[in-house]
Parts: sequence; C-alpha cells; structure tokens
Amino acid sequence: MCGIVGYLGTRQAAPILLDGLSKLEYRGYDSAGVCVMSNGELKVAKSKGRLATLSGLIDGGRAIQGTFGIGHTRWATHGAPSDINSHPHIADAGKIAVVHNGIIENYLRLKEDLVRKGKHFQSETDTEVVANLIEYYYDRLQDFPRAVRRAVGQLEGSYALGILCQDFPGTMIAVKKESPLIFGFGEGENFIASDVPAILKYTRKVVYLNDGDTVIFTKDTARFYDAFYDPVEKTPETIDWDISAAEKCGYDHFMIKEIHEQPKAVKGTLSPRIRDGRVVLDDVTLSKEYLEELKRIYIVACGSSYYVGCLGKHILEKTCRIPVEPILASEFRYSEPVLGSDTLVLIISQSGETADTKAALMEAKRQGARTLAIVNVVGSAIAKEADDVIYTWAGPEIAVATTKAFSTQLSVIYLIALYIADLLETIRPEEYDTIVNELLKLDQKIALCLTNDNVQKIRYYAEQYFKVHDAFFIGRNVDSAICLEGSLKLKEIAYIHSEAYAAGELKHGPISLIEEGTLVVAVATVDSLFDKTMSNVKEVRARGADVFGVTTEKHEAEIKKTVPSVITVPATHPMLQPSLTIIPLQTFAYYIALLRDCDVDKPRNLAKSVTVE
Ligand code: AGP
Repeated sequence: MCGIVGYLGTRQAAPILLDGLSKLEYRGYDSAGVCVMSNGELKVAKSKGRLATLSGLIDGGRAIQGTFGIGHTRWATHGAPSDINSHPHIADAGKIAVVHNGIIENYLRLKEDLVRKGKHFQSETDTEVVANLIEYYYDRLQDFPRAVRRAVGQLEGSYALGILCQDFPGTMIAVKKESPLIFGFGEGENFIASDVPAILKYTRKVVYLNDGDTVIFTKDTARFYDAFYDPVEKTPETIDWDISAAEKCGYDHFMIKEIHEQPKAVKGTLSPRIRDGRVVLDDVTLSKEYLEELKRIYIVACGSSYYVGCLGKHILEKTCRIPVEPILASEFRYSEPVLGSDTLVLIISQSGETADTKAALMEAKRQGARTLAIVNVVGSAIAKEADDVIYTWAGPEIAVATTKAFSTQLSVIYLIALYIADLLETIRPEEYDTIVNELLKLDQKIALCLTNDNVQKIRYYAEQYFKVHDAFFIGRNVDSAICLEGSLKLKEIAYIHSEAYAAGELKHGPISLIEEGTLVVAVATVDSLFDKTMSNVKEVRARGADVFGVTTEKHEAEIKKTVPSVITVPATHPMLQPSLTIIPLQTFAYYIALLRDCDVDKPRNLAKSVTVE
C-alpha cells in the first residue's frame, strides 16, 4: 500500500519527508520520491527501489532546499516499478505536483481526453492523469482550489491525494476518498500522512479525513471541506501512542517485538471491557430482542483476519448456539450471500482499509444486514462505515505479518461470544464466570508462552527444521483452525510451502504427500480429541514425517512417547486455548524465517494493507 507524507512549515521539508516515509516502509513499496518547492520551482527526486536509494540521491534531503513538499512510497498497481512511474508526478507544464494512494478506475478515458486536449504523459500511471487533469483546469481557471475541485469531481475510484501548485507557494491541498489520509496540526507547521507513525515525531494532534474531505492548508491555517465542499469543522484527536510504540524498542524486528507485545495488547483489549466480572461492549448495543431474531452470523475478512473468523465459528456456535459462517471477503461479495435484518455480519480487519473486506462490508449494508467491525486502526474506512465498531487497541502493528492484531481480534471474539451468550442465556452462569476469570488471566498465560526458556526451545526446533521444503499443520476443532494461521505465518515470512489440514482429513488424500523428512506440526490441545489427533500423528510418523508437537502441559508425557520435539502451553478454558497455541507457532515461523535470511518485517510481494482488489 502506498505511503504519503506532506509538510508545510519553516523547517527544511526534504529531511522531514524522508523521515516520515521511513516510518511508512512497513506498508510495502517498490519506489519512493519527494517533491519540494524550491526557489519557486517544483523540484522532484524519485527512484525505483528502497528509500535509502532516494535518500542517497538527495544527500539525505540536503540537496533540495525548501520548506514545503510532498513525499511518497509506491506499491505498484498501474505501471511496473520504475523511476518514471514513481511518485510524485508533475503535470505536463510543470505547474502541479501530485502524490496518490489508491486507484483511479476511469484514468484511461481521462488520459485519452487529456491527450486530445494537448497534454503529454511520461508514465503509465493513473496518478499522472490526476496531475494533468488538475493542471488542465488550472490553465483555465488560474485558481488552485477550484482546479483541484473540478478535477477531483471527474475521478472515479479511490484516492488519497497530496497536491502542490507552483504558483501557490505555501499552500497544499489534500483530498481523501477510500484510501486513508490524516492531517496533523503542528506549531507553525502542518502535515498530511497516510498513517500516524509518519508524523508522530512532530505532532500528536491529528484528524482522520473522511471520504470526500478536502483540506486546503498553509503552515498556519487549515480549511476543511466535506464531500459537498461545505466547510466543516474538525476536532483533532490526540494520539496517545508513545514514539517507541512505532519503533523496535531494542528488538531485532517489529515482528518479534509485536509477538512479545501480545500479553500487553490482549490485556489492553480485554480488561477495559470486563467490569465487575461482566463483559461490556463499549457502545455496541446488540439488544436481546435483536439477538433472539438472529438467524445467522457471517464473519467476513481476509488472510489472518479470516482465520480469526474460522476460530470464531467454533467459539460463537458453541456459546451462542447461532449458525456462524466465516467467509473470505473476496468471495463474499460475489457469492450472492443470503442477507437481511436477521443476519449479523462481523467484519474483521486490522488495517480497516482492506479493499476486499471494505467492499464486502458495503455489500452487506446494501442488503440490510447489521454490520459490526473489529478493527485496529482508529478512524479507518471500515471502522467508519460499519454500523458498530469494536477497536482492538493493539497499537500500531508495523510488521506485515500480523501477530498482536490477530490475538486482539480473537480476544474481541471471546467478548462478543460471552456478551451474546449471556443475553440469550445460552451459557450457564458458572461457565460464564469461569471464562471471564480465565480471560483476566490470559495475558499472564500468554507471557508464560514467551519465557526465555520456551523461546530458546522454539529456536532450537527452528534450527532442526528451517531447511524443509514442505510443511503440514494438523489439528482438530479449534486446533485445526489455529493451524491455518500457523501455516500462513510459515508461508508468508519463511517462504516455505505449507498447508493446514484437519488431522482427520489427511487419510483422504494428503497423506500421500507425507514422506521422509516432511515436517508436520501437530497441534493437540483439545482434551477430548487428543487421542484421535495422536493417532494421526502416528500415521505420519510411520511414513517418515518429522513431527513438531504443540500441546498443553497435561499431555506432555503422553505426546513425547511419539513426538520428540514438543512445546507445551499453559492450559486455559478450551474456548480460549487458541490464544496460547498461536504463540509458539508465530515464534517458530519467526525463527525459521531468520535462519532462512528472509526479510521478516517486509516479506516479498506482501503489503501491510491490501487496498487494491
Ligand atoms: C497477515 O499476516 C497477512 N499479512 C494478511 O493475511 C492480512 O491478515 C490480510 O491481508 C487482512 O488484512 P486486514 O486484517 O488489515 O484486513
């Protein structure tokens, strides 16, 4: 996903832009650039490759003097990664500079029109069309804000735009539709950015722009307009993250930092929502009458968030006795789902900007279903569009591979399950109390999974298995669902082909793939299914598989009769066990990725938030 930073003030802009872009690298990109107004001219420096390449081109920003400018990291959608396709894009006559995150769906038609009107293009991008379209109107109107408004009125698709005009030094315009963009208030300086970490060093007062918003600002002023171009007052929010939360805090990578942040993150999600032993769900009001009419719950998401939904099926059906269907967002919107007022659609998204998930949410709303979003990024598009939102409060998750956001999403599922089961009286009061008490201890039990002894043991096993080419994750019931996430972690950061299977399913075909040295990760924490899972373990062991087992302490002696490599996790209520099981699976994948010299925080081909379909 692209990253945008804009600065208007009295300090040199280029170093601030480079610093801000470096805090957005986690979003995934393939090129970077800056444009600074320097001595009345729009000066651009941009290049394919990492931010360090760009910084080298402009001597860390010192080579371009000027106190306002825009910067960008690009994740290619239209046009391959290249210097010329990098942003910022300058319009034909050099009057307008633009950075953009999103997709202009009607760019080809607009480009044809502009070519006919005499505009020339250098790149293959949709963004250059925006720059030339604004310049086209500016040529006629000689009015920067009006030119932007006319051009934006013709755009179809998604866009977060930062725009400069050579004839209007000291003014910047930003426009937001579907792609995230925030405005930061400074003292004698102002900022725009795709995400908070880019400007947290300079200001904590931010506004999350809404779809259709425009802001016209100088270093001292900011005028906001809504989608109807009516002036609108914005109340800044104060970001309470400390800067370290967006840095590595001494860890080698953001991912291992965020793995170790899970006790704190889960506690931060749960404890404000458990008061005097009762679950409270912020200002979400799912009334008893509404819930009694509920016929089905869909859980719609992508990737790891979808796997939270797969766990949610087990958890919600067992406690609330309502049919639950997890469905991939990219499938949901094209599968003609059966929706209505008796359907609750749970939308799960860490970023709150995933295009497939956002589109599914809009489809659910169009069909009259109630929507409840579980989101980490405050003010994100999904958070704003859903009827209700429960924030996971995991803090910024920088590593592309999710860990603490996954765990806090799962924690919110537990809260929703208890809340609904309590209202529908489908859970015995003593069971409710037991689970609540276990929830209040969950952070400590997660911390026990991350003791130095356990981490060293996992590192040791990682050293045994990091050269494997294929891996299978097997389990039953919730263990089968958590295998999906464990398997994805190994795929996305260690680039090992891995598959998750219900343990009972292997004999129906996949077991033909098991041979000498195949790695099988066996997850066996469900007491009532332990023996059956162990039978499956023996089947694969008999065919030469290496097995790495994860179970609870009570089964350690038994599993070790068959499996040499075992990690145990503390036992908790069966409904909550996946929150502990996932910890060694995350850690195992992390250390294997390190041993394979993979780029753990920024895995190849991946982006932190997939804002294109
Ligand atoms: C997580 O490790 C993955 N990178 C990815 O599957 C992610 O969960 C998915 O893209 C959904 O993202 P979201 O939660 O921000 O919507």
